[in-house]
Amino acid sequence: MSTQGKLNKITTAVIRDMKKKNQKVTMLTAYDYGTAAVVDEAGIDIILVGDSLGMVVLGYDSTLPVTMEDMIHHTKAVCRGAKRAMVLGDMPFMSYQASVDEAVRNAGRFLQEAGAHGVKLEGGREVAEVTRRIASAGIPVMAHLGLTPQSVHQLGGYKVQGKGDAAAKRMIEDAGILEEAGAFALVLECVPVQLAREITESLTITTIGIGAGVHCDGQVLVINDMLGIFERFTPKFVKKYANLNLQMKEAVRQYCDEVRTGAFPDDAHSFM
Ligand code: KIV
Repeated sequence: MSTQGKLNKITTAVIRDMKKKNQKVTMLTAYDYGTAAVVDEAGIDIILVGDSLGMVVLGYDSTLPVTMEDMIHHTKAVCRGAKRAMVLGDMPFMSYQASVDEAVRNAGRFLQEAGAHGVKLEGGREVAEVTRRIASAGIPVMAHLGLTPQSVHQLGGYKVQGKGDAAAKRMIEDAGILEEAGAFALVLECVPVQLAREITESLTITTIGIGAGVHCDGQVLVINDMLGIFERFTPKFVKKYANLNLQMKEAVRQYCDEVRTGAFPDDAHSFM
């Protein structure tokens, strides 16, 4: 908030400026109105409506089944809850791979129908043209290198990327290509700390790390992971800032007990 009580909204210009001033960018995912309002009020800079939605909210085994309709539906809800943060919609599998025109149209839907401020998409040099065309349509693009979950079958699992000289060199080149194509920021997922540092120092655009160490310009986590809600598996890079799964189960157990014994509803929660 400024001194006049007006919200200082986060824009690409603000994000760019933060790198120049050496200020870290905070980013979390959210998938619904209520969570978006909480993280926004807590001061998060960027909310990503990640296609991790597929795993942590919709219960799929991967992000691959997530559709544009799923993403638009959830991005609309998040945009209603976010007042200050920049909201980015994650382009789901097959929404930008088949043709550049289709990719631009789908990216546009996030802004036009859902009210997002930009999009994120996965990949290196192979998505440079798509990135260029979306960015030149006036849509801010966040790129995503390293472990790109939509390519899980090609990568052979969820594992650290950029190990070895050739893979590291290719990732550094890809990062430069995506910057040149017009991306305003770049997610680095599951990348060795020193490689993420080298990429961060070689770019003028902002890097956002997830399992990529402390030298990135900002950090992102999946909210269900960091709040300890999603229990199916926890990657090494996740720090649990709460254990809501346990707290939610305890609350529900207590509610069940009280309903069964007649302790709820008491007079304080009834109309006389
Ligand atoms: O889908 C997602 O939540 C993401 C983040 C983990 C970066 O891509």
